[in-house]
Amino acid sequence: MEAPVVALRKVFKRIDGEDILKDINLEVRKGEFLSIVGASGSGKSSLLYIMGLIDKPTFGEVLFEGERIEFSREEYLSRIRNGKIGFIFQFHYLLPEFTALENVMVPMLKAGISSEEAKERGRELLRKVGLAGKEERRPYQLSGGEMQRVAIARALANSPLLILADEPTGNLDSRNTEVVMDIFLDLNAEGITLVMVTHEEYLAKRSHRVLEMKDGRIISS
Ligand SMILES: Nc1ncnc2c1ncn2[C@@H]1O[C@H](COP(=O)(O)OP(=O)(O)OP(=O)(O)O)[C@@H](O)[C@H]1O
Ligand SMILES: [Mg+2]
Repeated sequence: MEAPVVALRKVFKRIDGEDILKDINLEVRKGEFLSIVGASGSGKSSLLYIMGLIDKPTFGEVLFEGERIEFSREEYLSRIRNGKIGFIFQFHYLLPEFTALENVMVPMLKAGISSEEAKERGRELLRKVGLAGKEERRPYQLSGGEMQRVAIARALANSPLLILADEPTGNLDSRNTEVVMDIFLDLNAEGITLVMVTHEEYLAKRSHRVLEMKDGRIISS
């Protein structure tokens, strides 16, 4: 059987003497759409950061495509992060002085793609998230839902195999929530593996598997 995209084994995260993640064992299979729910402070974002190789566990191990991750090798870590994982944060973190298109181009340029090619693919991705014609706008000239869609296009820049989204609809109205959710379902249908943190039970129900966290532990799956 194919290795899980990402797997955590006996992962603990300790901050200031307190375990904010406790004995996390988890496998995300290729093509899966997993959602994570749980009360505020239960460890959802912390878990996502470890899955995204943004943060390292205090104990335990993380495997990415079956390979054990060495968190001390920063260059190799950032190569996986930039090339294979797309991260969507609750707040979009777009660069305010850059246009929508330039924001989407950044990860491609970082990966060494020519600016010509990055521009073309950037336009294509913005079209895909319904933002054709808005390429030259800066974030302040876009609505919240549009900014989040730029962030999704940016996360897709390097054709990631895994997308991690931390409350991607947390700041959106119901119409934009639907738009974002439809984009996620389309991406998943194209074969991208997705992990989404959400507070909304009705959204979680549309994924394949719901994982519930409480006080740093996975209490149900
Ligand atoms: N860098 C940090 N330093 C200290 N404590 C932290 C740090 N990061 C997270 N925590 C603590 O760890 C716990 C889990 O935080 P986390 O952000 O993972 O929760 P969450 O489930 O994402 O919550 P929310 O739904 O509010 O986003 C919280 O008690 C938080 O205060
Ligand atoms: Mg959080």
